[in-house]
Amino acid sequence: MAPTQQIATLDQPPAGGGALTVRGISVSFSGVVALSDVSLEVARGEVLGLIGPNGAGKTTFFDVVSGLREPSRGSIYFDGEEVTGRSAVWRSRAGLRRTFQRQQVFGRLSVEENLLCALEWRGGGGGILADLLALPPRRRIERRRRTEVEWVMELCGLGAVRHAMAGSLPIGTARMVELGRALAESPSFLLLDEPTSGLGEAEMERLSTVINRLRAESACAVLLVEHDISFVMSHCDRIVVLELGSVLAEGSPDEIQANAAVRDAYLG
Ligand SMILES: Nc1ncnc2c1ncn2[C@@H]1O[C@H](COP(=O)(O)OP(=O)(O)OP(=O)(O)O)[C@@H](O)[C@H]1O
Ligand SMILES: [Mg+2]
Repeated sequence: MAPTQQIATLDQPPAGGGALTVRGISVSFSGVVALSDVSLEVARGEVLGLIGPNGAGKTTFFDVVSGLREPSRGSIYFDGEEVTGRSAVWRSRAGLRRTFQRQQVFGRLSVEENLLCALEWRGGGGGILADLLALPPRRRIERRRRTEVEWVMELCGLGAVRHAMAGSLPIGTARMVELGRALAESPSFLLLDEPTSGLGEAEMERLSTVINRLRAESACAVLLVEHDISFVMSHCDRIVVLELGSVLAEGSPDEIQANAAVRDAYLG
């Protein structure tokens, strides 16, 4: 393809409007190239694994997609709409939620409050007067939020610790709180950065159920960064392998496992 044609294609929004389209993303840290010209697509409802050795650029990629870091080059589209210059808050409101490699919960709030926080940020919904006076619109919204929190708590197995301070929980349970917060209000796109890290057996099963249910019952797309390769292989529709900031390979779990370059660089 001639260079001019390539530029024309890059400037156009993606046809079909997949859940996420990333084109030509580059990020450097004081001369260290963390991502170099990375492009990928995630379809609605797809679970895409993003794997690769330590330092490959996976978390940096999440930071760029979620709006916490500006890329030096490249563009990002959600549902066909360009969001490259949009803030992390804007992207979250648009339905993109994430969890962090080092989990982040509000340690001094209870589990229930952590989950309610995920639902409170749009305001009461009935206007400031309705909020202040607890008028029916506010009470209706409040009931809906409570129902949503109960649902998330059940899904993530948090009922028994609902009143515990999130900061006092074992790491695996805190991770489930963070996951629950990301799930509140039905995200359209979920980024999970090493979600199995620190989980016990029962929590692994919960996480597995959450991903399988999202896959089967919703159009929510999931981008999963994970070093537990058997977990990746059994939960992902497709896998992209990053190495030293570039895409090394892309394919089905079977194709990735059979890929000689991936075996050399990562799977061993
Ligand atoms: N804030 C930063 N300042 C400087 N360099 C950074 C920063 N964040 C990441 N890097 C560098 O960018 C590269 C990619 O790091 P990143 O954390 O994205 O990798 P990763 O694939 O998530 O690795 P891991 O599997 O260990 O989590 C590495 O060389 C890392 O040292
Ligand atoms: Mg990382």
